[in-house]
Amino acid sequence: MAAYYVTTPIYYVNDAPHIGHAYTTTAGDVLTRWHRQRGEQVWYQTGVDEHGTKVQRAAEAAGVAPQDWCDRLVGESWQPVLNTIDAATDGFIRTTEERHRVGVQHFWQVVRDNGFVYQADYEGPYCVGCEEFKLPGDVITEEDGTVLCPVHGKPVEMLSEANWFFQLSAFTNALIEHYEQDPSAIEPVSAYNEVMSFLRAGLKDISMSRSSVTWGIGLPWDEKQVTYVWFDALLNYVTAVGYGAAPGSAAATEFDRVWPADVHLVGKDILRFHAVFWPAMLMAAGLPLPRKVFAHGWLLVGGEKMSKTRLTGISPELIVDHFGSDAFRYYFMRAINFGHDGSFSWEDMTARYNAELANGLGNLASRGTAMVQRYRDGALPVAGELTQAENDLVALLAVTVARADERMLALDFSAGIAAIREFVEVVNQYVTEQQPWVLAKDEADSLRLDTVLNTIIESLRAISVLYYPVMPKTMAALWEQLGAEQALGAIADQRIEHVGDWGQLPASTPVVKGEGLFPRLVDRDSDE
Ligand code: ME8
Ligand code: MG
Repeated sequence: MAAYYVTTPIYYVNDAPHIGHAYTTTAGDVLTRWHRQRGEQVWYQTGVDEHGTKVQRAAEAAGVAPQDWCDRLVGESWQPVLNTIDAATDGFIRTTEERHRVGVQHFWQVVRDNGFVYQADYEGPYCVGCEEFKLPGDVITEEDGTVLCPVHGKPVEMLSEANWFFQLSAFTNALIEHYEQDPSAIEPVSAYNEVMSFLRAGLKDISMSRSSVTWGIGLPWDEKQVTYVWFDALLNYVTAVGYGAAPGSAAATEFDRVWPADVHLVGKDILRFHAVFWPAMLMAAGLPLPRKVFAHGWLLVGGEKMSKTRLTGISPELIVDHFGSDAFRYYFMRAINFGHDGSFSWEDMTARYNAELANGLGNLASRGTAMVQRYRDGALPVAGELTQAENDLVALLAVTVARADERMLALDFSAGIAAIREFVEVVNQYVTEQQPWVLAKDEADSLRLDTVLNTIIESLRAISVLYYPVMPKTMAALWEQLGAEQALGAIADQRIEHVGDWGQLPASTPVVKGEGLFPRLVDRDSDE
């Protein structure tokens, strides 16, 4: 069965991760968990980009060998951050791995054999922050003549090298045609338009090797040159899933199952590499193209992109230690429209945590479970006849599931979450209106109380499954409190298409009021 294949960029290990990197990885994790919840086969891939000048210089500055530098940073920071944000990735690739080197060398040999590589000299500006050969229109020239990279605000370096070139220009028309036929291959539309105007201006051939760099993958036909770091890094998307493995091997079979990628998630800083260079490379090698590149916006600090190079990063642990991983995931997916820029502030996150999570969802869960415990000794009552109020909720749930599914599949996470959040609010209103605490006072209302309690718990059952891809730990805890595990099996096995089926929890399911799902925040100043 083919797999829904989603990738993150592989991040440079010139420094530790900040919340910009965690943002992309969280988005991919929510997306892939959603697809798993639909019962699909999924492969979620991430990793690190270890070669190139930027990493080499970071290692030199620290006085260690590049490989040691990478081993330490990957082991101490890049792998642990997946745990910090609770990302359930299937694959992690490092570009210093042997499987990657073999695949990269095989790939470029194929492209050279196909006639798309030739020898020439390169002279021009290069930004080490971007690891990018800059075109004249890409740079800012200051009054004193200094040429700056607009992304990193740092001077570019002038390069003059004898290298090997990739004949990118040969693919201009094929790329334009491809994207005209399938506009959904680049999203959002602003990214699509940017790429199309870049393509329509015509592509220039580009150097695919570096002679002055040593930290990289040697060219198979010229060991004095290493592969330009982007033309090494992009290939991780195929080498990670078996490209370059011996024909007939298990890895090669896996490649046929998983490739092409369904979604390459990237920040808009690296759109051109993914939507222009990468598909051109694949065409040159005769491989299928990815189905979609989605370029999301930037987390900003003081109006500029948060960045390792600018040293403006906030560490994910800092936020997760305070709010928890689920609130982290919820906040960034909910507060920022995916595809647009956004910023993080402690005030905004605290406000949403309190209003939407603690008081909204957390309060509904604790009220609902507490009342079943108090009024029915923790045994879920059977519902009596449903009235208009319950039927409205059941109908709204069906709409909510359809809407959330549609928005999540479109990578519109904030709208998907908004649909679920609205349902939570309506259920909270239902509780307020039905006043089960009043019904509990009169024996004559006993059957009506059964119906109301059952409705609240059934609603929580649906909410926990819908929110599970966004907040896996908390929703697993809620599932536990609802007694649903025993009756319905693991929360991960609940399918989106059945969430709206009403009345799944059997009579007498043991409901317990557990720990609050979203604990009160400790004052940050009194934190350790
Ligand atoms: O570009 N806001 O690695 P990188 C949002 N190694 N996302 C951000 C961000 C911000 N302020 N800062 C970083 C590279 N990101 C290459 C990629 S892929 C074959 C090679 C995220 O460490 C976002 O996904 O500079 C961005 O594209 C990526 O990290 C860049 O990470
Ligand atoms: Mg960068």
